[in-house]
Amino acid sequence: MRPATITPHILATPEIESHCIDRKAQQMPTRVDLFDSTYTHFTRQVLETIREETFGQDIGQNSWNTVEEYDRFLSWLDLLPEHHVLEVASGSGGPACYLADRLGCRVTGIDANEAGVNAAAQRAAKLNQADRVSFTVADANSRLPFVNDSFDAILCIDSMNHFPNRLKVFQEWRRILGPGRRAVFTDPVVITGPVTNDELAQRSSIGLFLFVPPGVNEQLIETAGLHLLRQEDVTANAALVAGRWHASRQRHQDTLIKIEGKERFAGLQQFFAAVHHLTNERRLSRIAYLVEKPTK
Ligand SMILES: C[S@@+](CC[C@H](N)C(=O)[O-])C[C@H]1O[C@@H](n2cnc3c(N)ncnc32)[C@H](O)[C@@H]1O
Repeated sequence: MRPATITPHILATPEIESHCIDRKAQQMPTRVDLFDSTYTHFTRQVLETIREETFGQDIGQNSWNTVEEYDRFLSWLDLLPEHHVLEVASGSGGPACYLADRLGCRVTGIDANEAGVNAAAQRAAKLNQADRVSFTVADANSRLPFVNDSFDAILCIDSMNHFPNRLKVFQEWRRILGPGRRAVFTDPVVITGPVTNDELAQRSSIGLFLFVPPGVNEQLIETAGLHLLRQEDVTANAALVAGRWHASRQRHQDTLIKIEGKERFAGLQQFFAAVHHLTNERRLSRIAYLVEKPTK
């Protein structure tokens, strides 16, 4: 099934032919590093070119998130320049810096990946934003290093799937959000169709994943004492972005192989192909959630 709606202005979604998929590798997926390698080499020309070809506008995102979509999520949060926003799993720091620049907010980013936090801090310094954008290494599954009611908003894009301690994550968000304040997150791996064990292994080859069926996030949000205000199916963006990312990497394979090595390059291509197929066929869905902490 094809995506019902796609972001119109960027290139058309390339098809990933089934012959691109190495069946042998598909049967025996192994762990393949995405985040260390990407964040360590984030500013290399070839990675910048790939992001431009993939996202249209490169703000340093490392997810299925285009700028149009990020802007829409930001609009759900009613942000003002005096607000302090937490970006959970901030990756390279690109989206956090974009947000600080666009809305004037103070932004704190946390990520478990040290190379990501280093790249993010360098980005903020280079953009002269170090006075209002900062990054810290922290595990989102654990108690967060912030006092109660300290944030006006939380953003967490395409990372909830890495948080198996999800009730604790929502309880922490409730603790650190101010009363009446909101959080937006996406879960890119909600199981909405039949998937084989090999497909799940391909999809999760880059690290720790928790796959949930529809209803689980909704229930955990309420159990944690947050209210679900809105949810939206944003699977089409993941199908589109994963298809483009795969195609762009393929075009730049000679340069990428020098950075990643042959094996990791092939493993990552399998990963992007799996994301594209599973989202394009709506067997895994990507859902955006807007939640609010009650005033009392
Ligand atoms: C798909 S990337 C998304 C990054 C960023 N949100 C963006 O849109 O570019 C997922 C991020 O989750 C981070 N991550 C994985 N497990 C984590 C954890 N337990 N705590 C904090 N961050 C984590 C990874 O290091 C990675 O940067």
